[in-house]
Amino acid sequence: METISTIAVCGAGTMGSGIAQLCAQKGIDTILFDVNETILQNSRRRIWMNLDSLQQKGKIAGAELAAIQKRLHFTHQLSDCVAPVMIEAIIEQKEVKATLLNQVLTINQYQTILASNTSSISINALAAAVSHPQCLAGLHFFNPATIMQLVEVIKGEQTAPEVITTLLALSKQLGKTPVVCNDAPGFIVNRVARPYYLEALRLVEQGLATVEQVDAVMEASGFKMGPFKLMDLIGIDINYSVSCIVWEALGKPPRLTPSALQQQKVEVKQLGKKSGTGFYQYQ
Ligand SMILES: NC(=O)c1ccc[n+]([C@@H]2O[C@H](COP(=O)([O-])OP(=O)(O)OC[C@H]3O[C@@H](n4cnc5c(N)ncnc54)[C@H](O)[C@@H]3O)[C@@H](O)[C@H]2O)c1
Repeated sequence: METISTIAVCGAGTMGSGIAQLCAQKGIDTILFDVNETILQNSRRRIWMNLDSLQQKGKIAGAELAAIQKRLHFTHQLSDCVAPVMIEAIIEQKEVKATLLNQVLTINQYQTILASNTSSISINALAAAVSHPQCLAGLHFFNPATIMQLVEVIKGEQTAPEVITTLLALSKQLGKTPVVCNDAPGFIVNRVARPYYLEALRLVEQGLATVEQVDAVMEASGFKMGPFKLMDLIGIDINYSVSCIVWEALGKPPRLTPSALQQQKVEVKQLGKKSGTGFYQYQ
């Protein structure tokens, strides 16, 4: 199978930026699109800082850094997203994603693979709102995308087999370990991890432990990050949306009821690292 030489990434937030940086580091010409000009500029600044830091640590040479930068194209014009594969990493809302996917299909004359980085939206439900559902699959990276090894590849009922073959090959081209998953609520990782966040939130809501205590205990017991630090890294809004979507998709089981504390954080825009405040302060 031929390697992928051009990719479009839609959404330049936490995940889109990381995925675009990864693609460019792996030699792929990468078009990074966002509707928000400021977010696009911040993304560029963050990627440049990450690359500088890699160079200072001796992980990439000077010439390589310039080549990676040259492979990254930042745009707020969706019409620039012409590529054989488009990775979608925009907000976790089905209708917004479906609109974008349909536009990208049209721009590419229906000759592109649509890989959604959704954490929790059903690929079959998304496919039902897309004009060419055979082009769509899930390609779920983890945060930070440049570092985390796992990629969940989600096959929808209508996904063409060659789409999965290409996405598995692409994941390997990106140095990742892909695992094909069924289209079940939260796929595998987000389903298994839900109680990790929800039980931690409940302990704090009920005054039985502090945020710091929970994180310290979980980290001392072997977890790389406590649940609150992890929610801050993921983005509290994204994590809350995932909780709501998984809870609803499973028929609203009480054990997975989304947390009021988390909802309040979203309402006051304390979203974690990306907003400067979450369960911890970052500025
Ligand atoms: N944050 C995580 O840890 C994580 C991990 C895995 C998967 N995901 C998934 O990745 C996706 C993005 O999450 P994120 O954390 O990067 O979110 P984010 O809030 O950091 O970024 C979302 C970006 O989408 C942009 N956007 C919104 N509507 C758009 C549109 N119509 N066209 C183009 N851009 C648009 C916003 O301007 C923003 O820059 C979500 O589906 C999320 O579930 C997130």
